[in-house]
Amino acid sequence: MKKRIGILTGGGDCPGLNAVIRAAVRTLIQNNNEVVGIQFGFEGLLTNNVVSLTHETIRGILPKGGTLLRTTNRGNPFEYPIIDDGKVRCIDRSAEVIENIRALGLDGVVAIGGDGTLRIAQRLCDMGIPMVAVPKTIDNDLAATDYTFGFMTAVAVATDAVDRLHTTAESHDRVMLLEVMGRNAGWIALYSGMAGGADIILLPEIPYRVDEIVRSIRSRQKEGSKFDIIVVAEGAKREGGEESYLDKSSRRLGGIAYQVAADIAQHIDLEIRVTVLGHIQRGGSPIAFDRILATRFGAAAGQLVQQGEFGKMVALRGEEIVAVPIRDAVSRMKYVDPDGPMVASARGVGISFGDGK
Ligand code: F6P
Repeated sequence: MKKRIGILTGGGDCPGLNAVIRAAVRTLIQNNNEVVGIQFGFEGLLTNNVVSLTHETIRGILPKGGTLLRTTNRGNPFEYPIIDDGKVRCIDRSAEVIENIRALGLDGVVAIGGDGTLRIAQRLCDMGIPMVAVPKTIDNDLAATDYTFGFMTAVAVATDAVDRLHTTAESHDRVMLLEVMGRNAGWIALYSGMAGGADIILLPEIPYRVDEIVRSIRSRQKEGSKFDIIVVAEGAKREGGEESYLDKSSRRLGGIAYQVAADIAQHIDLEIRVTVLGHIQRGGSPIAFDRILATRFGAAAGQLVQQGEFGKMVALRGEEIVAVPIRDAVSRMKYVDPDGPMVASARGVGISFGDGK
């Protein structure tokens, strides 16, 4: 039976979103369904901002970064901010979302997003809306899937930055710090640090000590290397210390690399420079790995809709794309295991985590 399906992207954007949209739309259209795009995530269901998605509208989007459907990391319908008497307070607009889904005649919604979007999807599912979810984030911190698309592209961009910093660090005998994203998970820092041959990697999962960073720089100096590359995850923190926020109220992380630089500057005589990679690692064209993973996720989401398997999220397990309950996906985050094999390999090649181990 022909279905009318909505697709939306929520939360921060990420390379590969368009590849998911394209694959899901193609799969659904091939099975004789009609597809509409909901703009700006769940917000589009409050404003009736929808567009028709056809072969024509999705043509050429596979390699493009960003999202054709636009996105926002605000506008959670369950906690929708309004200004009341000059103050911001949150109201529940989920009933309006449900009403609009019904008014649009949607038989299901595919939500592509990170933990925030997936939580909203689960709550709407509990209220009777047929939802299928696709996990996305450059942070790779969702436990239900081995990898999220966008992560490897962010790693590739960060690795390129490490490579570029290497040559200039070496020319000037400088300590170069590179701050990368990832929220409270150190995956981007760990992968790009290893791929780029960093000397020190600072992760949220392994609190660092300034004396250990200094010791590691001095020991390289003794061996004749007068430059250092330090990759710092934005969520990294000093032993007994706290994360560095650009804006504490919205919990926007940033600036930790400047703190590390200031702390070590008191103890070493090398020049120090800081680079904060920022949104460069989130924009642009997805690398082949992410295009393929995103395409597989989009196709699998389309198939779940076709089979009427709602309340599920697509996930990568080994070589397989599987369907897991959205509830499971939002219940556990995935962090770097300080005693795990990745960290052990890094330590094995002499990378310091600033913890003295
Ligand atoms: O979750 C993706 C991410 O890019 C994080 O790595 C980063 O902390 C955050 O989003 C940045 O958010 P915004 O785009 O709102 O500044």
